[in-house]
Amino acid sequence: MADAAGIIISTNGENTMIKGSLPSFQQRLLRWYRLKTTRKNLPWRGTKDPYAIWISEMMLQQTQVNTVIPYYHRFLKKFPTVKRLAQAPDTAVLDAWSGLGYYSRARNLHAMAREVTAHYGGKIPDTVEGLRQLPGIGRYSAGAIASIAYDRPAAVVDGNVIRVFCRYFGITRNPRETSVIKQLWDLADRHVPQRNAGDYNQALMDLGSTLCTPRQPDCPHCPIADDCIARIKGWQEKIPPSKKPAGRKTIRYLCGILEKNGSVLVARRPMENLLPGLWEFPGGVLLENTEKQASLRQLLQEKLGIRVTGLTPAGTQRQVLSHRDLEIEAFRCTAKNPTVRLNGYLQTRWVEIDQLQKLPLTAGMKKLALKLF
Ligand code: ADE
Repeated sequence: MADAAGIIISTNGENTMIKGSLPSFQQRLLRWYRLKTTRKNLPWRGTKDPYAIWISEMMLQQTQVNTVIPYYHRFLKKFPTVKRLAQAPDTAVLDAWSGLGYYSRARNLHAMAREVTAHYGGKIPDTVEGLRQLPGIGRYSAGAIASIAYDRPAAVVDGNVIRVFCRYFGITRNPRETSVIKQLWDLADRHVPQRNAGDYNQALMDLGSTLCTPRQPDCPHCPIADDCIARIKGWQEKIPPSKKPAGRKTIRYLCGILEKNGSVLVARRPMENLLPGLWEFPGGVLLENTEKQASLRQLLQEKLGIRVTGLTPAGTQRQVLSHRDLEIEAFRCTAKNPTVRLNGYLQTRWVEIDQLQKLPLTAGMKKLALKLF
């Protein structure tokens, strides 16, 4: 049978384009993954505890493996069970997450722990459908937890799997298109083995991050290179196509760097808006038709009642968000009076400069702080 991409798939889901003595695609991936020399030795791979695997998956969603490892150990030490996490105060969970960015993950994690404790007797659901009922669990996370922790035949599609599948099956269309994503999930569902799905999924993730890399993939060492369409046709650099330089909007954000006795003023964002409850150097979005310094003076006056002088450019930080680009421009300045009102911020605080990185700052502000201090 040929699918929408013109790929020949047998009814049992195995790619039969190259018939002969090749073991199945799944077998080759599993064998490769089980070789001690290729398999990544990651801490969550030494456990079957669904709670630990769930924590690892939430951390890995938008963060590199190497960054996640120390956070994973610390988090589990602090909150070793779902129940302990459910009982923890919000601030303790945010603190343990501090530095990982994308703090909505920490809030979802906490909400999920409370839900699992209150309604599931403390047991993390063991099916994709059950997992997807929980806050912050999408199709990818549900598939990863169900397959890795419970060995369910559940598929995953993440950035690495997308690249491997597009190349292997010769999908030349842009995988950011909804119809292509749907096609990839269909392929993933059809190919996931009935047994050892967790290992198989992690093999795909590892293959994408070690050999089947965006640039210069290492095809000679790849276990599925023999029948990979991109390799056969020499399309490795063409698949997947590079991102279009779309006309993205840029948010111009200004902030004031106010220092006093080795401390710097930070403000906590409100809970209703973007990046709720996170800290930043105070400021706001550049006002229309207003010059930058004047804009920042007005923002600080409106939001904190502080009058500032002596604004001098201190540095710029650019950040790519999902839909826009963010450009934060910082100005050192001096306050003529203390904070007299909170209008748009929850709280302000003078924090010692060497303690800044411990605070749950927004990701952009965190990087800016590293540049400035
Ligand atoms: N990224 C997300 N989940 C992962 C896992 N289990 N192993 C390696 N990389 C991952």
